[in-house]
Amino acid sequence: MAVELTGVPETMLWTLWFRAAEARRPDTVLADPEAVRAVERTDFPFRERFGPPHELMAQQMALRAAAFDAVTREFLDAYPEGTVVALGEGLETSYWRVDNGRLHWLTVDLPESLALRTRVLPAAPRQRTLACDARDPRWLDGLDPDAGVLVTAEGLFMYLRPAEVRDLIRACAERLPGGGLVFDAVPRWFAARSRRQQLRMPTGWTAPPMPWGMDADQRPALRRVHPAVAEVREVPLPPGRGLFWGRLAPWAAGTPQLGRLWPTVTLLRFGSRRRTTGRAGEEADET
Ligand SMILES: C[S@@+](CC[C@H](N)C(=O)[O-])C[C@H]1O[C@@H](n2cnc3c(N)ncnc32)[C@H](O)[C@@H]1O
Repeated sequence: MAVELTGVPETMLWTLWFRAAEARRPDTVLADPEAVRAVERTDFPFRERFGPPHELMAQQMALRAAAFDAVTREFLDAYPEGTVVALGEGLETSYWRVDNGRLHWLTVDLPESLALRTRVLPAAPRQRTLACDARDPRWLDGLDPDAGVLVTAEGLFMYLRPAEVRDLIRACAERLPGGGLVFDAVPRWFAARSRRQQLRMPTGWTAPPMPWGMDADQRPALRRVHPAVAEVREVPLPPGRGLFWGRLAPWAAGTPQLGRLWPTVTLLRFGSRRRTTGRAGEEADET
């Protein structure tokens, strides 16, 4: 069955195309055989639509995924049976890269995107899918924060409005005490270019408008989005291969002037529930 996705849902094929191209290399920075198989199983004119996979972009997608995997593995070290909620997961294959045999996984995406995901990726043990808009807090129902919950939003927030990003962070902070949220952001200049329809590939395909962008130096302000945001942490991309991703990019990302113009990955940690102490009415914060 040919794939007919447009707008933001189609971007899940874009990121998959690049991740799979990188994964095919013998010297890949991210082993991802499931992504390669997903491209082979998908009846979609990847090359005609997106063009040949550019090596630097392919590596960037893989390094971004590797940064998310590192956060997920760290979470699973603390909560081996915890739940990872992957918002806007598209055709991301992180489950197969990080599965420890005990984790629980909830994939949340729009119905049309999930319809494709369930066709081209195998069903996996301990993995559920929920057709739900990430802006609808229904996906938070039934999660047990005491058992450990990490929410991932890879390649999603740029497609939401600024107020929707803030509401989503607030909902997580309120409903997931002790939990975490990891997401990536494009810098504001890049989001602005997308809104002017200037992110155009030589094939003519143009990235959809990105209403939300965040510069790296705006990151500390996330602490003020909700009182339960206890920690805001930069998640650096691992160094990659070659001069650009191996040397220049890590150097530029660590430089204030250039770093603020760079895409970022951020981890928010939420404070644990307030508990009452022995004395009546007195509370202690567990964070
Ligand atoms: C750029 S793709 C990212 C896919 C995947 N996370 C990755 O990194 O390869 C954007 C994804 O977000 C999903 N998405 C967009 N808006 C959404 C929303 N409001 N709620 C849930 N998912 C959404 C799309 O369907 C798509 O799967």
